[in-house]
Amino acid sequence: MNQNENSSRRDFLTHSGVALTGVSALGAASVMSPSGVFAAENKNSARLKVGLIGCGGRGTGAAINALQADRDTELFALADAFEDRLKGSLAGLKRKGNLANQITVTPETSFVGFDAYKKVIDCCDVVLLCTPPHFRPQHLRAAVEAGKHIFCEKPIAVDAPGVRSVIDSAQLARKKGICLVSGFCYRYDQAKRETIRRIHDGAIGDIVAIQICYNTGSLWYRPAKPEASDMEKQMRNWYYYTWLSGDHIVEQHVHNFDKTAWVLNGEMPIAATGTGGREVRTDKKFGNIFDHHAVAFEYKNGMRLFSYCRQQPGCTSDVSDHILGSKGRAELMSHRIIGPNNWEFQGEAPDMYQVEHNELFKSIRAGKTFNDGESAAFSTMMAIMGRMATYTGKRVTWEQAFHSKEILGPSNYEWGALPEVKIAIPGVTKLI
Ligand SMILES: NC(=O)c1ccc[n+]([C@@H]2O[C@H](COP(=O)([O-])OP(=O)(O)OC[C@H]3O[C@@H](n4cnc5c(N)ncnc54)[C@H](O)[C@@H]3O)[C@@H](O)[C@H]2O)c1
Repeated sequence: MNQNENSSRRDFLTHSGVALTGVSALGAASVMSPSGVFAAENKNSARLKVGLIGCGGRGTGAAINALQADRDTELFALADAFEDRLKGSLAGLKRKGNLANQITVTPETSFVGFDAYKKVIDCCDVVLLCTPPHFRPQHLRAAVEAGKHIFCEKPIAVDAPGVRSVIDSAQLARKKGICLVSGFCYRYDQAKRETIRRIHDGAIGDIVAIQICYNTGSLWYRPAKPEASDMEKQMRNWYYYTWLSGDHIVEQHVHNFDKTAWVLNGEMPIAATGTGGREVRTDKKFGNIFDHHAVAFEYKNGMRLFSYCRQQPGCTSDVSDHILGSKGRAELMSHRIIGPNNWEFQGEAPDMYQVEHNELFKSIRAGKTFNDGESAAFSTMMAIMGRMATYTGKRVTWEQAFHSKEILGPSNYEWGALPEVKIAIPGVTKLI
């Protein structure tokens, strides 16, 4: 699955998206402006067409958030790799009675397949990129090139070339005046904003160490038909394949890495050493991701970040961020400062998923170019660096990790056979 860098692979796909009616994608193109492109900057006061790419749980939720954030929007087009997923999402959205007059998706604007994203990008003003993270760099690049405003879920890549591509796309988006909001939703939680503001104002003194955890039980598994191809089986159970999800240290624990980066004003670690493996997630159906990782990150000033993530049933669950300072400590998930500047967030913060879309659409309407693509890329890179440390068993420096040439995934996307799934072995698996 691991390949050397091949930039053309990310830029081109070999398959066509198919409109559900069998009508060609031009059915949707016929509603486009004469230039064939909806210019983002001309849409500040008009009704905005929103397109969803990746119609799963989060994508469907993001579509609701987008429509609620700005009532002068319509959900115009959908894309998914699988028809059943797309139809299920649309049926769920239509059941949301209060949004009925904002859902204008038709069979002609419903696209299925690996190329479906292109059709949605073509015919919408704002796109929601909510597929598994493997596809994010490619979809993001296409949306930026087409000049569309973007919400893109975290993590934003699964490998270092993907991260570098996202940094390029984010810079291009800034030049083009496109809004780009990533799905690092905790950044939109008022209680965390207030807690971190206090840390930045010195409430716990200098930060001497941080401990972050994302320890949970087991996850979903989606049985596939026995006759399904390797690609279909893996795509339906994308979480369990490193090439699609990045492993759970990237897919889920990345939230903690992003909060750490936020607390540290974007400072990145210089090296990481870790340990991890699969103790209970041993069945072949669980692909090749680990079920636990523990990583110590070193910072330039000697500060250490201790990171733990585990997905094993029957163990203690713990999702937390402990920021230890020279004059006290902060508990980010419970929004408390403990020490001489004792404090606790009071009241109820608004739903962070909704706030992130409210702020995206407010920026679009105001003609401001909100863009957090680079910080999202760096937080994702921290998680990938942690995985490199646990997979190889070696101390990995930031330079090595960031400049890695390892591209995860097949060289093209088709519903056929895939190479044998290999599980990383610390001490044997190489850093590429
Ligand atoms: N911010 C958060 O708190 C949060 C919460 C949940 C999920 N997420 C993120 O959202 C993303 C999606 O997660 P989910 O839980 O919705 O997963 P999901 O499996 O429910 O949905 C993913 C959908 O994408 C589709 N898909 C896969 N490849 C595609 C492609 N190439 N083109 C078009 N569609 C494709 C799948 O068929 C599926 O319907 C992930 O990156 C995940 O990390 C973020």
